[in-house]
Amino acid sequence: MLNVRKVRKDFPILKTGIIYLDNAASSLTPEPVLQKMLEFYCHYRANVGRGIHHLSQKASEEYERARTKVADFINAKSENEVIMTKNTTEGINLIASGLKWKKGEKIVTSLIEHHSDFIVWLRVKNNYDIELKTVRPKGSVEEGLLDVTDFEKIIDDKTKLVALTHVSNVLGVITPIEEITKIAHEHGAYVLVDGAQSVPHMKVDVQKIGCDFLAFSGHKMCAPTGSGVLYIRKELSEEVEPLCIGGGAIADVEHDSYTLDKSPRRFEAGTPAIADVIGLGAAIDYLQKIGMKNIERYERKLTTLMYEEMTALPNVEVYSPDPEQKIGIMAFNIKDLNPHDVALALDVSANIMVRSGHHCALPFIRGLLHKSGTIRASTYFYNTEEEIDKFVSALKEIINSLVE
Ligand code: ALA
Repeated sequence: MLNVRKVRKDFPILKTGIIYLDNAASSLTPEPVLQKMLEFYCHYRANVGRGIHHLSQKASEEYERARTKVADFINAKSENEVIMTKNTTEGINLIASGLKWKKGEKIVTSLIEHHSDFIVWLRVKNNYDIELKTVRPKGSVEEGLLDVTDFEKIIDDKTKLVALTHVSNVLGVITPIEEITKIAHEHGAYVLVDGAQSVPHMKVDVQKIGCDFLAFSGHKMCAPTGSGVLYIRKELSEEVEPLCIGGGAIADVEHDSYTLDKSPRRFEAGTPAIADVIGLGAAIDYLQKIGMKNIERYERKLTTLMYEEMTALPNVEVYSPDPEQKIGIMAFNIKDLNPHDVALALDVSANIMVRSGHHCALPFIRGLLHKSGTIRASTYFYNTEEEIDKFVSALKEIINSLVE
């Protein structure tokens, strides 16, 4: 069960009285995660997979335990499908640089992507003479809804990869990813899902979606910064070249040759972010205890409340589909005001943190929405209805004092 009053006590930073509505950028960290990392530093601070001594054994055990927790969390078939990265961006780059591209192949993505799931494909297109097709939202741009039939038209037998966000970091709109994955697989294409904004907020099951790759960030789901995950379906692990090779990634090395180990070790050269990965394991325990269904249900309630209150405000332009089709994120502008000024005013006048600007999504914000930026408020399970009310009241005051 989700007891918001109770969970809020776990987040030391909330005791300072802030209203944190910038969760799509990064979440807050609860005490059990901090304690778990401290446990590593105080009791078994050693490298992983490299020592016979008991500290290294214990650190390795905890590190691998975190991997198993991630595998269970996303319903991977095996923990060997889970590669530890530092964030979503690294995971997507690993796939972009690791697949063996051939001239004339095609990549399909959309115009609502975060730059991390967009410019990487532009680079592949330029480096390998690949065709890059971008799908734009159907109907109203403000709603950002991607339509399955557009993908049906564009995905063909030349398509090697379909790369899509699961939840837009600007609009919170949910992509019909299962249907699109089916279409891609009928044409023999791989599917990469950018799960940065979905995995923290809803149950994501890689087997149900059927995707080949899923990248997401730990720091958006109560884990430390520097922890992220890339899921690679096990049949494909040897199809992807690692981004880095070196210590820990090999099965054997001779004077003139080397053999890489199997997944996940082949992808994790060098000393990993051990404390952060162990912290990610604790974050998953924390989220599982609350229950992803409870988190999703509660956040949908908050999103609907925010949508209803904000669309009733004068001089506010809300960019959003119906709340049924989204989760956790609200992008908007106030008439004649610069988004950064509004964000600063919210911070200074009401201790409210939101993000402003182009949200690393220029093809959408500038190209389709024709704005220089927006304000973005994004929730997590520790936000309350009272906080949403205070946020809306603070917006009203800003409108009353600044809009002519
Ligand atoms: N990707 C993060 C965001 O959308 C940083 O704010």
